[in-house]
Amino acid sequence: MIIKQISKKEIKNADLFQQAILNPNKCKRFRPWSVVYKNFLRNPSLFIGAYDKNKIIGIVFGYIKKNKVLLGEMAISNDYQRKGIGRKLIFEFEKNVKKLNKKYIELGAFGSAQNFYLNLGYTPILFVQIYKNKVKKNYNKLNYNVLKETNYIDAKRLFIKIDKLDDKLKQKAEKDFNAYNVIYLFRKNFDFG
Ligand SMILES: CC(C)(COP(=O)(O)OP(=O)(O)OC[C@H]1O[C@@H](n2cnc3c(N)ncnc32)[C@H](O)[C@@H]1OP(=O)(O)O)[C@@H](O)C(=O)NCCC(=O)NCCS
Repeated sequence: MIIKQISKKEIKNADLFQQAILNPNKCKRFRPWSVVYKNFLRNPSLFIGAYDKNKIIGIVFGYIKKNKVLLGEMAISNDYQRKGIGRKLIFEFEKNVKKLNKKYIELGAFGSAQNFYLNLGYTPILFVQIYKNKVKKNYNKLNYNVLKETNYIDAKRLFIKIDKLDDKLKQKAEKDFNAYNVIYLFRKNFDFG
């Protein structure tokens, strides 16, 4: 098994590979191929593959957003999961993020993949999205540790510090903020300066 940057010739195949795992029902893509390819051409070091002989068995794709790198897609072939390949891919990815002088990695994860990221030293954050016309007047006086607040077209987004995954707190935040969506994000910081 080898870990290496994905080549221009292989990137389309790597994209089809991750879609087969992450989007098996072929729903409308969250991040279209054109966006993947544009980012690959700009920062190919954030597109890394694991290969067994010449077959692709794992990928990680990253996207630069100012000071952060968004880990957008991460997938290992079913037959190769839980063999330490994801861990190796993430290490290579983190090395390249540091080389690019970016301050942190952020990603959204669901289900059992959450434990994978916690295991690798990522810290969870509550990401709360509220439609602008549903934002409560006292939203900034509630008892939450808001790290960052951004406004996005028709929604307000809050990044809230939490100590651990806590589904009760997640549900409570949804109610308290009148949010239409609350998910866990995971972050690893490299900004120790
Ligand atoms: C989640 C995924 C990327 C992990 O990759 P992997 O190669 O299977 O993981 P590794 O074998 O490198 O595991 C690294 C560590 O995380 C832990 N881990 C991995 N998958 C886990 C899971 N599903 N639940 C709990 N812990 C997990 C392992 O125990 C291991 O820790 P250890 O070395 O201390 O035992 C992979 O299983 C996958 O592609 N899953 C399907 C798609 C997916 O969910 N992608 C993530 C979208 S955000």
